Amino acid sequence: MLSKKIFLIGNGHLGGFLADLWKILPELHWQREMMELDVATLKRVRPEAVVNTAGKTDLRWCEDHAYECFRCNVIGPVHVYRALKQALDNKVPYIHLSSGCVWDGPFRPDGKPFTPCDPPTPACFYSWTKASCDALLMAEAAAPLLILRPRQVYSPLASPRNTLAKLNGYPRLLDTPNSMTSADTIARTIEIALGSSDPRVWNRIMNVYERGSTSPFEVGTFLAQAGCRQPPEKLSKSDLDAWHKPKRVDAVLEDKFFEDLVKPPTVQEELKRNIALYAKAIGK
Ligand SMILES: NC(=O)c1ccc[n+]([C@@H]2O[C@H](COP(=O)([O-])OP(=O)(O)OC[C@H]3O[C@@H](n4cnc5c(N)ncnc54)[C@H](OP(=O)(O)O)[C@@H]3O)[C@@H](O)[C@H]2O)c1
Repeated sequence: MLSKKIFLIGNGHLGGFLADLWKILPELHWQREMMELDVATLKRVRPEAVVNTAGKTDLRWCEDHAYECFRCNVIGPVHVYRALKQALDNKVPYIHLSSGCVWDGPFRPDGKPFTPCDPPTPACFYSWTKASCDALLMAEAAAPLLILRPRQVYSPLASPRNTLAKLNGYPRLLDTPNSMTSADTIARTIEIALGSSDPRVWNRIMNVYERGSTSPFEVGTFLAQAGCRQPPEKLSKSDLDAWHKPKRVDAVLEDKFFEDLVKPPTVQEELKRNIALYAKAIGK
């Protein structure tokens, strides 16, 4: 349950999902350019928390439009945080959506999953922008700041940006371990953080995911079992790397603080629950 008046930024796959789930009123849902959000608007609206889901997410587009990608993924979110701090005296929490793809895994060199303290190892320009923005925000954390790093976000929505829709479309899929994060797990994490009296929730980076790991091939198999597609064939990483530009990253995440706080379900449970709803949404 949401305990605070949220000002939501962005109307993409995740922003749309959250706006619907939390029944965000139009005056509290910023769907315009991030850089146009000003101190006066925030003073007038007086939110109790700001959640920023806006950003450029198409990896190839980000390589080809580097300046625009940097403006949207780095300058924009930092501008919003500065405006918020100034408007509301460093008191109102800012929750920013970063990404678990700041690491190029699937595992660290020692074979373990990535924790929020591990230095980013970005493999493409999009990942560089996400890691840079996190560093800049953390360097000037004053108003309560929480940076969330989900991985391969999915939901029951029939949106082309939904990871389930993407994996439903490829005949061959990798069988490499990966973390995944449902939009519901992100929503619950935000609700729990905002309702928590634990000061350790703030001014930190949190990995956000369901427990365990899965693979694109396993997701494709679940989608086939739900009648959404034909069973997938396996694709090798070297085959994919030969043509997929920029390189696709794999990353398995871990975060003890997050798991204790949110107690996420296993990724297989959460995938099957979402896929059953997704199948209905696409009429299967
Ligand atoms: N999708 C994933 O699997 C995934 C995984 C990890 C983290 N994340 C992060 O989670 C957040 C939400 O992702 P998503 O899946 O909802 O992505 P999405 O569907 O692409 O939504 C992002 C939205 O932000 C908008 N936007 C871009 N630049 C903007 C600007 N300067 N001002 C205002 N709006 C702007 C985009 O508009 P246009 O469509 O016009 O560009 C789009 O509507 C992003 O920060 C993303 O990096 C996503």
